[in-house]
Amino acid sequence: MLEIRGLKKSFGSLEVLRGIDLTVNKGDVVAILGSSGSGKTTLLRCLNFLEASDEGTMVFDGETFQMAQMRKKDVARLRAKTAFVFQDYNLFLNKTALQNVTEGLIVARRMPKDQAVELGRRMLAKVGLSDREGHYPSQLSGGQQQRVAIARALATDPEIIYFDEPTSALDPELTGEVLSVMRNLAEEGRTMLVVTHEMGFARHVSNRVVFMAEGDVVESGASQDVFDHPQQERTRAFLRNIYQAGVPAD
Ligand SMILES: Nc1ncnc2c1ncn2[C@@H]1O[C@H](COP(=O)(O)OP(=O)(O)O)[C@@H](O)[C@H]1O
Ligand SMILES: [Mg+2]
Repeated sequence: MLEIRGLKKSFGSLEVLRGIDLTVNKGDVVAILGSSGSGKTTLLRCLNFLEASDEGTMVFDGETFQMAQMRKKDVARLRAKTAFVFQDYNLFLNKTALQNVTEGLIVARRMPKDQAVELGRRMLAKVGLSDREGHYPSQLSGGQQQRVAIARALATDPEIIYFDEPTSALDPELTGEVLSVMRNLAEEGRTMLVVTHEMGFARHVSNRVVFMAEGDVVESGASQDVFDHPQQERTRAFLRNIYQAGVPAD
């Protein structure tokens, strides 16, 4: 469904992505792991054209694009098929939970308001927030705000959802509710590309893992294989560090 070949990106003289290859099939949940600074956020931003790439080819639904030379209308068309969930939720603070979900539907997609409200309510129900539709972000916990952001992403029925560390801004006791919503989406067969430090999620929910270091994909494969039999020393060192730090629960 999504195939990336040779994606490169530099900021000035700093080469942040050194030729990334990545394949995401329909229904895949791909976890992207890697230390801070390895280029994970830049990768997602390039995939959604929030950042211009220097080189690389994208094949999306069988259509091929040169990522360094994107036409505006192709960017708009591709973005309409994808959704992005950010670390810090990116909600409109002056809009209610329901309005945050319906805004894009009404403004960008020109959906009639009553239809958008109906769909928005269904999406809030999906993330367990039916009783919070009239609340503003400041009246919601971080976990609830992130679930609103996920409801907003789902409302456009995207072919793929990109998540950039969706739980890393949350207090530990709130990560579970967000991960459980994401697990439900995975079980429904949603295609997701998730940058995460949640090793439990990467190991048990995602079916594939991509490990990045210094702008390269060092290792990728089936989640169980990468966790149980990492082939590369850098992957082993990363996993060792994470587990020694006591981060994951399992
Ligand atoms: N807009 C930018 N301008 C300059 N350098 C950047 C910019 N965005 C990211 N970088 C640098 O690119 C590298 C990778 O960053 P990032 O993609 O955020 O990594 P990660 O998400 O894996 O922590 C870092 O060295 C970071 O400082
Ligand atoms: Mg990042």
